[in-house]
Amino acid sequence: MSRPRADALVIFGITGDLAHRKIFPSLYAMERRGALDVPIVGIARKEMSLKDLCARARDGIERFASGEVDEVVFSRLVDRLSYVVGDYADLESFRKLRTALGESKHPLHYLAIPPSVFAMVTRNLAAGGCAEGASVVVEKPFGRDLESAKMLNAALHAVFPEDHIYRIDHYLGKEPLLNLTYFRFGNRFLEPIWNREHVRSVQITMAEDFGVEGRGAFYDEAGAIRDVVQNHMLQMVALLAMDPPAAQDDEALRDAKVRVLRSIRPLEAPDVVRGRYRGFLEEAGVHADSLTETWAAARFHIDSWRWAGVPFLVRVGKRMPVTATEVLVDLRTPPQALFEDACAGERNYFRFQFKPFTTISIGARAKKSGEAMVGEQIEMIALHQEPEEMSAYERLIEDAMHGQPGLFARVDEVETAWRIVDPILSPPTPLHEYQPGTWGPPEARQLVAGFGAWHDPLTPVKPLPPEVS
Ligand code: BG6
Repeated sequence: MSRPRADALVIFGITGDLAHRKIFPSLYAMERRGALDVPIVGIARKEMSLKDLCARARDGIERFASGEVDEVVFSRLVDRLSYVVGDYADLESFRKLRTALGESKHPLHYLAIPPSVFAMVTRNLAAGGCAEGASVVVEKPFGRDLESAKMLNAALHAVFPEDHIYRIDHYLGKEPLLNLTYFRFGNRFLEPIWNREHVRSVQITMAEDFGVEGRGAFYDEAGAIRDVVQNHMLQMVALLAMDPPAAQDDEALRDAKVRVLRSIRPLEAPDVVRGRYRGFLEEAGVHADSLTETWAAARFHIDSWRWAGVPFLVRVGKRMPVTATEVLVDLRTPPQALFEDACAGERNYFRFQFKPFTTISIGARAKKSGEAMVGEQIEMIALHQEPEEMSAYERLIEDAMHGQPGLFARVDEVETAWRIVDPILSPPTPLHEYQPGTWGPPEARQLVAGFGAWHDPLTPVKPLPPEVS
C-alpha cells in the first residue's frame, strides 16, 4: 500500500469554526516547529479577501494556540496561504482549485465541512481533476447510525481508496491515550492481570462542566451517544480492552481494536441510561420537543475469553460538576482474607486520569506503622504530566500529511462501533432529567449494581462493598 506524503494541504471550510479553533492553531504550531513545508489552499463559499482570512487565522491562533504569536512564524504561515471562493456544488470551484494547486500531485483535502456535503465534495473533487493521487481527511460524525455511516463510507470509497482516507477522532491523537497503549504494552506486569481473572470492572467517565456552548442545533441532532460514545468512548474501550497488537505498525493497532470491538455485544435498552440537563430545551437551536440526551451511561459486555463477565461502564455528560476524564480499572479482592481489614471494602486499582492532566496511579494497601497488622489505603502515583504540549489536532494533521494512518479510524472500526450502539438509537430509551452541576440522573446506579458505585473523576476512589464470590 502506498500512502503519499502530501505536497499541498487543501482546507475546505477554511472560514469556519473548526479551522478557526483547531486547524489554524495547529498549523501555526507546526510552522513554529519547522514541520510545515507545503502550500495551503483554503476553499469556502464565503467571499473574503486573503487579508481578511489571514486576520481570522491570527485571531484563532491568538485565542486558541499557546503563547504569544511570533510574527516571523506567522508571516511564514500566511505566505503559504491562498484562498479560492467557491460553491461546493459548482464544478467550476474545483477547476479553480486545481489551478490553485499548480504542480501538486498529492494534495491532502481536509473536509472541515458538514458531513451532509462530503459526498458531493468528493464527487466534485474527482470530476474537477483534484482527486487523483490525493488523500482526504474527514471529521466525525461519520454518519448518524450504521446505515448512514455505510452510505458515507461508500461515497468516500467511490473516489478514494481506504488507505487514502483519514477519519479524525481527535481522541486518538491525545497524548494520554497514546500513553495508555504504551503503558499497557511497554510493561511486563500488566498483561498477566489484564483479564477477567483479576479485573472486576472498568469504568470510564468523561465529564464536562459546560453545556452545549452555542452548538445547540448540532447537538440536538446528535446527542451524547452519537457525539462521544460511538467514537471517543468506544475507542477508549478498545484501547483498554484490546489484545496486544501483532506488531508496532499502523494496521496491526487498528486490527487489534477492530477485533475487540467485534466482540462487544450490541447494546440493549437495560444497558443504557440517558439524561438531559434541566434547561437544555431553552438552549438556542434546540427543538422544544427534543428527546436528545446530554448525558449517557452504558454498560458494555465484551464476549471474549479475556473479558467475559467484566463490565465496561461508560458515563459521559454535559453540565456535570467538573471537566475531567478518568478511567478506573478495579481489581478483584485478594482470594484469601489473611488480613481482615484488607477485605473491608478497600481496593486495588489502576487509575488513569486523562483530563485535566495525565496521571497513572495504582491503588493498594500498605501496613500502617505500629504493632497491629492493620493497613491503610494508599495511591501510588506512577506518572503525572501537565496538559500535553502538542495538541491532538496538530499530531493528526501532521500524521495525515505524512501518510501515517495509525491514529485515524478505519472503515471497519467506525462501522463496528455503530453496530454496537445502533440498537438503542431508535426508538430512543427513556430520558431522565438531571440538575446542572450534578453527576447525572440517579437511575444510572442500576448499571453499576454489583460493582460498587460510579467513580467520580478528581475525587478519591471510594471503598467498595466486599466482592461476593
Ligand atoms: C467533541 C464533541 O468531539 O469532543 C464535544 O463533539 C466534546 O461535544 C469534545 O466537548 C471533547 O473533546 P476534548 O478534547 O475537549 O475532551
